[in-house]
Amino acid sequence: MSLLGGLLFVVSALVVRGSSISTIEENYLKFPAGFLIGTATAAYQIEGAWNVSDKSENVWDRFTHEPRPGRIVNNDTGDVACDSYHKYKKDVELLREIGFDVYRLSLSWSRILPNGFANKISQDGLDYYKKVLAELEANGIEPLVTLYHWDHPQIIEDLGGWTNEEIVDYFGDYARVVFRELGPRVKYFCTINEPEEFCARGYGLGTKAPGKEIHGIGEYLCSHNVLKAHARAYHIYDKEFRPTQNGTIGIVLSLSYAYPKDPDDATSVETHFQFNAGWFCHPIFSASGDYPSLMKEKIASASLEQGYPRSRLPEFSQEWIEYIRGSSDFLGVNHYTSTLVEPGVESVVPSVFADRKIILSPDPSWPRANSSWLYVVPKGFGDLLRLLAKEYNNPVMYVTENGVSAAEETNDLNRIQYFHDYLKEMLLAMNRDGVNVKGYLAWSLLDNFEWTQGYSERFGLVHVDFNDPERKRTLKMSANWWKNVLKTRKLEPVPAGPQSSCCTAIPV
Ligand code: NOJ
Repeated sequence: MSLLGGLLFVVSALVVRGSSISTIEENYLKFPAGFLIGTATAAYQIEGAWNVSDKSENVWDRFTHEPRPGRIVNNDTGDVACDSYHKYKKDVELLREIGFDVYRLSLSWSRILPNGFANKISQDGLDYYKKVLAELEANGIEPLVTLYHWDHPQIIEDLGGWTNEEIVDYFGDYARVVFRELGPRVKYFCTINEPEEFCARGYGLGTKAPGKEIHGIGEYLCSHNVLKAHARAYHIYDKEFRPTQNGTIGIVLSLSYAYPKDPDDATSVETHFQFNAGWFCHPIFSASGDYPSLMKEKIASASLEQGYPRSRLPEFSQEWIEYIRGSSDFLGVNHYTSTLVEPGVESVVPSVFADRKIILSPDPSWPRANSSWLYVVPKGFGDLLRLLAKEYNNPVMYVTENGVSAAEETNDLNRIQYFHDYLKEMLLAMNRDGVNVKGYLAWSLLDNFEWTQGYSERFGLVHVDFNDPERKRTLKMSANWWKNVLKTRKLEPVPAGPQSSCCTAIPV
């Protein structure tokens, strides 16, 4: 063979090999048949209509109305929010226009049960959700309904809220009403959204509703009752409703991924995983149930050092361990960001954050979004999904939230880049590595009330003008990108153009 011939052979072999690699990669980047793609919202963040009809006050109504300067950016409230209570038809029209398969919404407990208890059911409250579900059905969109996204009735809070074990019964009663009245139209239920957030910040640090500062004790009482209440709702559904309704029900957790600051420090990574995921996953998804032993040991020894007569983490009886174990058909994964970890103590003592004895920080090279906590680390998403699959026997997972905050803009190329890069990691974890993800929901359909950040952080695919009494909605570029993804059912490239505030390195 001549020199030229030899060269051509090498080049063509590379091309063939290159194209076959890219074909494999392209196949990995398709959504499998039956995969559900959607977007998510939550009642308090979008509905408004906080006091219409017989709806009663909930903990976020109280938390935002209490005159505490500095608690919420601009003293914003969810009183009107996106006014989705009145504009739900427009929201469903947007969902249809973009082409989503599923819509994750949550129900307001105090809209359905104004007394908090099941002795009085609000007809108006039920009718509202029945109309929303009918509208979704008429437009061919599957609902995924969360029973509880942080907004329990104030009356329940006056009795201690999630720190009072009676809530297990109250939540079960509420769940039963929902399953009976709305269940015939719902195939996917989520029980409770991100308990670690409202337990650690609502009953620990006091920075979220209900604003209780009982750190070290409050968050663990809360998580204990959350796990029981979740399992109660699961068993009610399983026994009383699944036989006729045939749906599926699971819990939704806020899960992040950790990399070690010192490459040899596997201990801090494991500690982060057990306190972040294990706290709720181990009792439900592990073979043995109960809290992770690492967590039990760390909290017991810190409690002892601090002079407590027993661990601040309550214990489950064997009966409860078994009742909770296996009480989820799927794991709902809310994922946004990753962190670095190293040994040390952060936050107030005692608290769940101090008990774990690790310090979290971002890698300086990670771009930051518009939220102080949200660093863009696509690889962490794939690593997290693979780790969850490995630890919990590859459970069925739905990514129930994933998204990014950005400045007020409609040409949100940065958000497209985020979705593109995160979806790529998820698709590789699924299609190449066999992780069992069955659906993905982008957070969020609309710019909305971002809790203590009010309306200052925008996560929507659709812009909402909060100065307009009509709350005008305008599709952002990211919504149009999603339209293409939903048409082709594969990862679409990011359009060229300048990217703005989100996803460019912002000094920490
Ligand atoms: C998770 C929460 O479930 C949701 O309510 C919130 O808006 C997003 N994170 C973004 O912070």
